[in-house]
Amino acid sequence: MSKSFSDIYSKSIKNPEDFWGEIANDIFWFKKPTKILNNSNPPFYKWYEDGVTNTCYNALDIHIDQGRGEKTALIYDSPITGNKKKYSYNELRQKVSKFAGALSKQGVMKGDRVIIYMPMIPEAVIAMLACGRIGAIHSVVFGGFASNELASRIDDSKAKVLVTASCGFEPGRTVEYKPLVDEAIKMASHKIEKMILFQRSGHEVKLTAPKEISWDESLSNANEVDCVEMKSNEFAYILYTSGTTGIPKGIVRDIGGHIVALKWTMKNIYNIDTDDIWWSASDIGWIVGHSYIVYAPLFKGCTTVLFEGKPVGTPDAGAFWKIISDYKVKSLFTAPTAFRAIKKEDPDGKFFKKYDLSAFESLFLAGERADPDTIKWAENLLNVPVIDHWWQTETSWAISSNCTGIEMMKTKYGSACKAVPGYDVKIIKSDNSIAKPNEMGDIVVKLPLPPGTFPTLWNADERYKENYMSNYKGYYQTYDAGHIDEDGYIWIMSRTDDIINVAGHRLSTGAIEEVLSEHQSVAECAVLGIADKLKGQLPIGLVVLKSGVDKDNETVSKECIQMVRDKIGPVAAFKTVIVIKRLPKTRSGKILRGTIRKIADKEEYKTPATIDDPKILDEIKDDLIQNNILK
Ligand code: COA
Ligand code: AMP
Repeated sequence: MSKSFSDIYSKSIKNPEDFWGEIANDIFWFKKPTKILNNSNPPFYKWYEDGVTNTCYNALDIHIDQGRGEKTALIYDSPITGNKKKYSYNELRQKVSKFAGALSKQGVMKGDRVIIYMPMIPEAVIAMLACGRIGAIHSVVFGGFASNELASRIDDSKAKVLVTASCGFEPGRTVEYKPLVDEAIKMASHKIEKMILFQRSGHEVKLTAPKEISWDESLSNANEVDCVEMKSNEFAYILYTSGTTGIPKGIVRDIGGHIVALKWTMKNIYNIDTDDIWWSASDIGWIVGHSYIVYAPLFKGCTTVLFEGKPVGTPDAGAFWKIISDYKVKSLFTAPTAFRAIKKEDPDGKFFKKYDLSAFESLFLAGERADPDTIKWAENLLNVPVIDHWWQTETSWAISSNCTGIEMMKTKYGSACKAVPGYDVKIIKSDNSIAKPNEMGDIVVKLPLPPGTFPTLWNADERYKENYMSNYKGYYQTYDAGHIDEDGYIWIMSRTDDIINVAGHRLSTGAIEEVLSEHQSVAECAVLGIADKLKGQLPIGLVVLKSGVDKDNETVSKECIQMVRDKIGPVAAFKTVIVIKRLPKTRSGKILRGTIRKIADKEEYKTPATIDDPKILDEIKDDLIQNNILK
């Protein structure tokens, strides 16, 4: 008889070594680990320390060894270009091992870093897996980031090679990658040795040999190569994510735990088997894309869809239904924003009615809070369970979810369900005590974190310890706040730092403030995330000008907006800057960002007792009204 969720969960918490030791038998190891967890140096825990394996072997070769080489591994569908292509496991391995050979030819060795700055094309997935094959560490940078962000990642990772493409396509706009990359290379102090560029048909760009070569040229004299043996605690990738300053944090993933945990999640959380078709509509530049477009489905040996398009506008609000229907997708994972966008454009589901979704069984949402309205709308339309689950770049897989492959639980609208096996989630109150059911506080996870989560930050052990593991000894601080109810359901209410969530994209308001402060006319500024019906949150900037500035406010606003677009990228969706006379502060000089946000979101607020001049709050209210933020 299969075990209940509560049995499985308690075993994972009471005896994590037994739990993760058994699950580790489900992956391919060159050498099986004999030691499951090394906990001798907290908070630096090591899973499967003496195990030897390879990420790419577990994603591709193992399935071929098991006689499933002809099964479709990847389906690429690009409504933007009209291109479609299916790759079997055999074909994908052939392409990956050849590109791995190409990287080796360019001098990339085990442990070297490779930056991948590419649109959603199969070559991006091939490049990621090729790195794994030869033990190189990839760092994928989302295409919506500007040169400055790319440069900071080149410098921090000290990458040897950068892989890119001639362009990406956004609805109504071609994103020319080469000028962005050229600019980043110029800005970075660390010099990459080689750029490999994939020329998209009809959009070829000029390359300057010998430092820049095309993808095809790199393949021309390359041999297919085999997977190298990797120690379990060596790194598979670095993924940079927003920190509280402009310096991004390099989240690293160690190899063994990543494979074990992600493979386990496919059946246990998502109820996906090897014969199923799975689709994660995200971007490979984000953690959801890493884990659930590329790695987890390929570790599982099922079929994954790579979609180069948007929920609306490519060409219409039926784009998602078309993919699900064309490929008989069993489950979709995306951000709530995508569904809000579809709901806004097609509230009555007219497009939905055109397609056959009989194979579709569940929808998973994450990346930001899923508002109950959107969940209910999607449930009514799709007539399948809609599951909100909570996770972070740091963990790479869900901390809380309805584990549909173990036991389907009831939905509580607004909650991201229960802690997943492996995560001992607690709420800690401001007096440092553990909260009782329904009491609010900081959400933390008792150490050790399960396999597949981040063992440290790239070249920044101290920052890892200080930032995440120090405020609450023995716990990982998630920087989310909320409560756990009497049934163990987790309710994520807000971030406790200055991270905001714009269309499921994680941004730092501190980083945007750093850019605004560089404007010559700006004396001081505050950036806050205000509620937005479509994107969840949108950043707005409030700036105070230096005295004697002779530029008009509109010019300063436009320049500030452009600076953020140039330095952070279009993904910041930063379109509003209001010039104000002064910022509300406490007597000790702290800007009251939280109070301004509450005013903008029409939430109840108390005038803080420590405010230096309460009248400023009324001035801000007027400014927000005049600028149509507060209606
Ligand atoms: N490369 C270059 N630019 C990109 C980009 C990429 N890969 N992705 C987004 N951008 C640009 C967009 O073109 C847009 O630029 P613009 O200011 O010139 O219009 C800007 O970044 C903001 O993009 P986005 O937040 O995607 O907004 P949008 O208005 O273009 O689209 C949605 C709105 C809802 C359709 C879109 O946000 C979406 O699909 N969201 C799903 C969320 C998601 O997948 N999140 C991933 C984490 S799970
Ligand atoms: P990222 O690292 O980009 O995946 O962003 C992680 C952050 O997104 C979390 O710390 C939360 O603040 C937020 N988040 C992710 N999933 C959810 C969810 N299901 N509900 C509420 N917030 C979420």
